[in-house]
Amino acid sequence: MAAVNSENWRELDLPHDWSIEGEFEQDHPAGLGGGYLPGGMGWYKKTFKIQDSSKLTSIQFDGVYMDSEVWVNGEYLGKRPNGYISFDYDLTPYLKYDGQENEILVKVDNSKQPNSRWYSGSGIYRHVWLNTTNKLHVANWGSFVTTPIVSEDSAAISIESMIENEYPVSKTATIETSILFNEAEISSTEENFSFEANSIKNIQQRITIETPQLWSIDTPNMYTAKTNIIIDGELVDSYKTPFGIRTFEFDLDKGFILNGEQLKIKGVCLHHDLGPLGAAVNTRAIERQLEIMKDMGVNGIRTAHNPPTPELLDLCDRMGFVVMDESYDMWNNTKTKYDYANYWNEWHKKDLEDFIIRDRNHPSIIIWSIGNEIQEQWKEQGVRTARELKAIVRELDTTRPITVAMNPPVNMPDANVTTQFDTAKVSLNPVAASGVLDIIGYNYAHQTYEHHQKNFPETPFIATETTSGLQTRGYYEFPSDTLKIWPVRWDIPFDGGNPDHTISAFDQVRVPWGSLHETTWKIIKKHDFLSGMFIWTGFDYIGEPTPYTWPSRSSYFGVVDLAGFPKDVYYMYQSEWTDKDVLHLLPHWNWENGQSVDVWAYYNNADEVELFVNGKSQGIRKKQGDELHVMWRIPIEAGTLKAVSRKAGKIVLEKEVHTAGEAFGLKLTPDRETINADGKDLSFIKVEIVDDKGNLVPRAKNQLNFSVEGEGKIVGVASGDPANHESFKGKTHKALNGKCLAIVQANKNAGAIELTVSGEGLKTNTISITTK
Ligand code: GAL
Repeated sequence: MAAVNSENWRELDLPHDWSIEGEFEQDHPAGLGGGYLPGGMGWYKKTFKIQDSSKLTSIQFDGVYMDSEVWVNGEYLGKRPNGYISFDYDLTPYLKYDGQENEILVKVDNSKQPNSRWYSGSGIYRHVWLNTTNKLHVANWGSFVTTPIVSEDSAAISIESMIENEYPVSKTATIETSILFNEAEISSTEENFSFEANSIKNIQQRITIETPQLWSIDTPNMYTAKTNIIIDGELVDSYKTPFGIRTFEFDLDKGFILNGEQLKIKGVCLHHDLGPLGAAVNTRAIERQLEIMKDMGVNGIRTAHNPPTPELLDLCDRMGFVVMDESYDMWNNTKTKYDYANYWNEWHKKDLEDFIIRDRNHPSIIIWSIGNEIQEQWKEQGVRTARELKAIVRELDTTRPITVAMNPPVNMPDANVTTQFDTAKVSLNPVAASGVLDIIGYNYAHQTYEHHQKNFPETPFIATETTSGLQTRGYYEFPSDTLKIWPVRWDIPFDGGNPDHTISAFDQVRVPWGSLHETTWKIIKKHDFLSGMFIWTGFDYIGEPTPYTWPSRSSYFGVVDLAGFPKDVYYMYQSEWTDKDVLHLLPHWNWENGQSVDVWAYYNNADEVELFVNGKSQGIRKKQGDELHVMWRIPIEAGTLKAVSRKAGKIVLEKEVHTAGEAFGLKLTPDRETINADGKDLSFIKVEIVDDKGNLVPRAKNQLNFSVEGEGKIVGVASGDPANHESFKGKTHKALNGKCLAIVQANKNAGAIELTVSGEGLKTNTISITTK
């Protein structure tokens, strides 16, 4: 424990991720999966005082990456290899009271690399809580609320509470549980129980409420179950469990049914990093990601490929997303040398149990995924493990179906070939064939989806992962309708692409195992029995820069880039997945004179779109059949590109794109102008490089400088360029195709944060964010 005696402690706030502060280097052992950022070893230390020695004190970690060990006052509390799991330790026996200092030490070891296929971050990157309770109390994560009977008129609510008596004598207490809606109590029940000395007892209560307000995507109504423990008239413990009331099922013919209504799951896979903020959890940053997804029409989130931070699930409950909650990216067989498979035998049961116990009250969760593309799925061992994991989950929750995000369940020699399973010719993946899964879930192989009912007549379907289209925001190649498969095959190294590591933002580039965005959605849309899909991915993430390697360090898969700026295909989904009027034109209008350019429009709620260049009509286009966009191929003429969408002859929307002049100034647009002065809240400020008329300069890549004054600081900068090596934590960043992002964070003093952005040859601009 040499490091512990070091003098060089640095003061910081949790959650914290040290990898994001490091430099991108080609020989960092995390490699391309980890975005070429450093891992290493870290120690955290904190001192604190506890006054009341009659209480129990425990410490709860929501997630530490990885292999953490914890000591309090020199006493060893334990070890937890899994970097995504939540865990706690009882501190009570080791604490000093009455104004004395206690010291907690945490060792975090992310030095054995690679251990992940994506950017993990390093450190205590999620929240830590010090919990104080009476010796008679509801155990941490000790409640389980279900709604076994739900109708329009009433709902029966079952509340199971695990109550721990840590007194050395038996106790009698009243357990009073009430149901709250909008903070008002609507019903309650109470009963006396006796608890033996040093024992744990599971008690069950039932409450029926009238006219339940159901939880759904559009009305995510939440209730709270509050369990009070009362001894001799004194309230000694109060435990709150947020929950929702809803029914759902996966129907063989109709797909996903929520509260009796069919709902197509329009989902995205999300890795846990928050772009320039790294893995360090910030609730507002997660909320912003979900707001951007909601605006696109997304209603489902897959927590690829690990237990998420609890804040994500709370937000999904509150904002109305269904969730496929995923546990593992590997079982006993490694995907990278030092990954979790090394800890599998010792830890998988405990980790899976703790995951289910922590998450099972969230109404948003509708599927448990016990793994992603697990290698053992091709062996009989995989069936045994799947059965074992399923039994572990079933023991703790019988209300949700279980799946594995499998590889396509047949060994497809060539993923580009349409495959109708013919079990005489192809071998079925043993896990899929075993019948162990409640839902057949597999990644990609969209060619097979339409045949699902024939292939698996007794099991519903979900496309657990789809698409893997590739794009750089704001970069375009012509002709736009040429398909590019990058790389040509998963096992053939990529040697094509562009020298600056860009990829066209027309929906024309994909990986060989995936599809273009439009392709998969057209299939999922067509058949009711296909309950839905999860696009790989909603946001770009750090690591896995397929098809490129160094110097690219983050992904191209996102519908939205790493800075949070939508790529054009975002509007294809918006036009299909929302009711709002959409008319989106691409590309920009800054091309060489005379060049032939493809112009696409994504639109909805209209019969046709007419395109004009400098007032001259280029013709009317209408989507035919199942088309999801229209296109014109026209010679460029600088000036104004204008589109008009019409329904029954009436204008629905008009959109203009102007040829931009020289870069002149900076337009700053915050997502929120007023934020909380709580030391955590964020404002995300979009920076656009504009010409002297205010038009976005669509290819500008100016170096921008950021400075801040007042009651806050800059916590992140990013452009969405997957090959940029400037620090996300720096004060300077090169824009990508006219845009850049700065994130400012409030301190705890009310006032204002002034962010100034400058760049050579550009008019400096300042924006003020109020903090209160
Ligand atoms: C899938 C995998 C994801 C990601 C994706 C990229 O096979 O499940 O984690 O690697 O490919 O296309």
